[in-house]
Amino acid sequence: MSTSPDASAPGSDSPNLDYEGTTPYEDYVQADVLTHLQHPLSDDPGEMVFLVTTQVMELWFTVIVHEWETASRALREDRVTVAMDALERSARELEALNASWKPLARLTPAQFNSFRGALGEGSGFQSAMYRRLEFLLGEKSASMLVPHRGAPRVYAELEKALHEPSLYDEVLRFLARRGLPVPAGVLGRDLSQKYEPSQAVEDIWARIYADPDQHGELVRLGEALTDVGELVWRWRNDHLVATRRAMGSKTGTAGSAGVAWLEKRARKNVFPELWTARSHV
Ligand code: HEM
Repeated sequence: MSTSPDASAPGSDSPNLDYEGTTPYEDYVQADVLTHLQHPLSDDPGEMVFLVTTQVMELWFTVIVHEWETASRALREDRVTVAMDALERSARELEALNASWKPLARLTPAQFNSFRGALGEGSGFQSAMYRRLEFLLGEKSASMLVPHRGAPRVYAELEKALHEPSLYDEVLRFLARRGLPVPAGVLGRDLSQKYEPSQAVEDIWARIYADPDQHGELVRLGEALTDVGELVWRWRNDHLVATRRAMGSKTGTAGSAGVAWLEKRARKNVFPELWTARSHV
């Protein structure tokens, strides 16, 4: 590659062109690695965007897991501002994640069929990062570790996440430290099990929302969590609609009933009492 002789001359306002070895950008971003991780399994030209969209979503899952782990740790240390910042960032990231459905949202069955066979039994159901995201929301399930038995690092990370408090567990512990009557049974629950809604927790959120003068900070926390819950629900529903368009009621590549199974998953409420409490404010 030829470079103009004065481009990197002292006093020039052009960017530097001359680096020993790889560029500092490459060293930081590893763009060369990232842009060579695309190995389509078919000759279909439409498979590339399916693969890259899936990879992009995996990266967003990774960022969002990082934000919720930051928020959980900050709540544990009673650093509410740090937690709120992370939760609010995660809401913007969830919006970007959801926007990345656009290229796949209108796949026709024939377009999807062009490369579906090449996916074999591969399915997003086997996404370990999505599973961590669900665990952080309180959607725990030991059986979801089973597909990852053959991948020791992934399995160990998931197993750790299964036994750790979820983001919502940390929120409830925080509310208890603020003097709200979270039942001992909720605080001491078996963390490896799915979170089950509690009447007492619903009453607490109703009480918080009914008195914003006294509980301003907790109302803001509740609203940040509600944004997260709504946007996760939107991701699930956008996935459901894209799936319905692309394959109707066929069975999924992971062997599930497909749309019927996803409909059940999409019906679940994230942070359930934050939604039900609203009827009692
Ligand atoms: C239009 C393209 C897509 C179709 C037709 C589709 C279809 C399906 C189906 C049928 C399932 C149920 C499990 C199975 O039997 O396979 C599933 C699960 C899943 N898919 Fe997709 N999917 C698509 C795109 C994506 C993308 C781009 C992602 C991003 C990572 C993704 C992530 C997931 C996840 C995380 C699950 C598990 C959901 C849960 O556990 O509740 N899917 N998908």
